[in-house]
Formats: sequence, structure tokens, C-alpha cells
Amino acid sequence: MLKFSELKKYYNGKKVLVTGHTGFKGSYMCVLLKYLGAKVYGYSLKPEKGSLYELIQKGAKKYRSAELRGPLVAGETFADIRDAKKLTAFVKKVKPDYILHMAAQPLVLKGYEEPRYTYEVNVIGTVNLMEAIRQTFSRHGILSKIHRRGEVCDPVSILNVTTDKVYENNDLSNYAFKEHDKLCGRDPYANSKSCSELVTYAYDKSFFSNKDIFRISTARAGNVIGGGDLNENRIIPDCYRSIKNKKEMVIRNPKSIRPYQFVLEPLILYLNIMAMQKKNKKYEGNYNIGPDKKACLTTEVLTKKFFDAWIHNVGANVAVGANVAVGAKFTSPHESKFLRLDNSLIKKTFNYKEIFDMDSTMRCTTKVYSDMLHKKNIYQSIIEVIKDYIS
Ligand SMILES: NC(=O)c1ccc[n+]([C@@H]2O[C@H](COP(=O)([O-])OP(=O)(O)OC[C@H]3O[C@@H](n4cnc5c(N)ncnc54)[C@H](O)[C@@H]3O)[C@@H](O)[C@H]2O)c1
Repeated sequence: MLKFSELKKYYNGKKVLVTGHTGFKGSYMCVLLKYLGAKVYGYSLKPEKGSLYELIQKGAKKYRSAELRGPLVAGETFADIRDAKKLTAFVKKVKPDYILHMAAQPLVLKGYEEPRYTYEVNVIGTVNLMEAIRQTFSRHGILSKIHRRGEVCDPVSILNVTTDKVYENNDLSNYAFKEHDKLCGRDPYANSKSCSELVTYAYDKSFFSNKDIFRISTARAGNVIGGGDLNENRIIPDCYRSIKNKKEMVIRNPKSIRPYQFVLEPLILYLNIMAMQKKNKKYEGNYNIGPDKKACLTTEVLTKKFFDAWIHNVGANVAVGANVAVGAKFTSPHESKFLRLDNSLIKKTFNYKEIFDMDSTMRCTTKVYSDMLHKKNIYQSIIEVIKDYIS
């Protein structure tokens, strides 16, 4: 693993194109990249009023230290990833050093409600991005120019972020998916991400095989937790809303077992994969990113941990409204009961060891949500969380 200070050497002054930069992971990634001195170029839908991204942006303008004050991104386009023309124009204009693909319809339930939209965004969106990259980096004869001039080429480094749900899941308890297992997500969201993996594979083999120009990987991450996520139908944001609105909290699938990780764990790994594969093609791959077995919890236990941490870190009085009703009021479509990843490849390749355990995760998560509730500077909260994490 590259230390945070080492990551600066790779990202300082570099152009990083992030799709989905206004989302939950994207917002944290923008702060991380700003901290590393990178120039971020974002492509996403317009963020909603009061979103985490908007709050961070507001906070960044007023941040106390001049070094980290100022706009989060060097440039951004608010447009649909299905709009191939706009996306291609953006990639061509930026000509990035790194490309991190996170724009997606990322919700399982919405996938059931709007399967066509989910496939269009997650599959055709990936095709559009791969095409934009192909057109930007091969059509202009970059390689031949470089060879003529005898220069050493600096390849574009691409990472497609998918999910741990890409595998065919028969709910075998205690089985941990390995990278070579069959890709066949069962519901539209999961399946669209399996397809996104296949699209990446086809582009790599068909168009990105010249490793002097292209380096590409995929990352299959599990569920992440972090303060400020406001997405619907996710367990931790639901916990926060139940506190904020003093309403009963209903757990959809209390006995489902999932791996949970602090949001900075996969994000720092994404930065590592992109940096290392740019330097050496041997780091290209399809990586499972998930915690060790002990961080696989039932939804019910995770919820309890959040409320306990809230009471401990923020104060019992705020959590009074948060009664938890388990599963009773909900009939939901199929979601896998058991999901665990074998993380040995990423551990071995990058010498990775998880930094935050569940207690630290909950401490930082409740801190950011509490700052959000109390209208504090969220950019500052996240900078403090990053400092805590890298210290
Ligand atoms: N959060 C998790 O627990 C988790 C777990 C596994 C994988 N992932 C993956 O990580 C990525 C980021 O997830 P997140 O939690 O930040 O999601 P999010 O919903 O918070 O953010 C999604 C981002 O994608 C953008 N987007 C959505 N539809 C778009 C469209 N049609 N055109 C352009 N941009 C569009 C949004 O504007 C936003 O910036 C996704 O690819 C998701 O599948 C997330």
C-alpha cells in the first residue's frame, strides 16, 4: 500500500476525471483528491439541493486554511452518462491522466422499479465512457506520435467501480466469492454491474490492449459506510433519517449478512490501484474489495451499532425517536441473504491491511452525521475524518 504522503507524488497536479463525483463516494473522493493536490474533473447529474456534495462545496469555500480552501473541482459537467456526445466531448477536452468511473444507478430497489433505466445508466453508460476513452486516446494517433518522438509513454489509468453483487449468488453461507467466480448478478442492479464488468473486459481485450496507452482495472467493492450518505433505502442513511425526523426505523432484511467497510477503505484502494497500474501494468486486475470476515454483520446488528455509537458520541437525548422495528412492515423483492468476498488478492497485491475497525467506522460516521444535523462545516468534518484515518 502506498502511504497517503506517497499518493501525493502520483496525484499532485494530475488531472483526474471522476464520473459520479457528486455522489456519496464521489464527494469523499473529491475531498481526498483535493487534499492530494489533484485537479478533479467531474461528470455527473446535477446534485440535489442539500446533498452532501453541495454541503462540502459550501464548506470548502469557507475553510480556515488557505491551502485547502477553494473550489472542490477544476471543472465539472452536469449531464447524463447516457449522452455519449457530451461525455466524449468532456473526456476529449480534459484528456485526463486518471479516470475513475463511479456514475451509476446504485440502488437495488430502484433497479427493480426501473430496470431499463438501471441497465441504460450502468451498462450503456459504461460503453459510452469506454468509447469516449477509445476515441480520445487512440484516434488521435497518440501512440504513433509518441513512438516517432521516442518518448516514454504515460498511459491513461482507468478504474471501473462495480460491486460485490456482480457474482452469481446462491446464498451459500460461508462461501466467499473469488475474482474468477461466475459474473451473473441476480437482480437488475447487480446484473447491470456484472454487464459493466463484461463491457470493461471486452474493451480491454479489443481496444485497450496497447499497454503503452491504456491501463484498466475493475473494483468490486462491498457496502460502504460513512457520514453524510443520504441515499434512499440504505441502512445507515435510514438510521440517520430516523434520528433526524424522530421517526421509527424499519429494517428491511434484518438477518441479511453483508460485509461493511468504512468509505475511505475502498477509496484509498481505488487511488492505489490507479496509481500503481499507471506505473506498472502488472497491477491491472479485477479486485474484490471488502473487509475480513469479522466485519460481515447482519443488518440488525449494524443498526444497533450505529445507534449505540450515536448515543455514545453524540448524546442519548437525540436518539430518543429512533425505535427500531424489524422487518415487520415491509415485503421487499429478493435480496441475497448472504454475501461475502474473498479479499486475499487485493491484500496480497497491494499489501493491504484494513485501517478502521467497526468502532472507528461508527465513531467517524456518527461524527459527520452529527455535524450535518448541527449544520457545521461538513468539508471540515470530512477533512478531520481523513486526518484521523491517515494518522
Ligand atoms: N455506496 C455503496 O455502498 C456501494 C457499494 C458497492 C458499489 N458501489 C458503487 O460505487 C459507485 C458510487 O456509489 P455511491 O454510493 O457514491 O452512489 P451515489 O448514488 O451516491 O452516487 C451516484 C453518482 O452517479 C451519478 N449518476 C447517477 N446516474 C447518472 C447518470 N444517468 N448520468 C450521469 N451521472 C449519473 C450521480 O449524479 C452521482 O454523482 C456506484 O458505481 C455504485 O454502484 C457503491
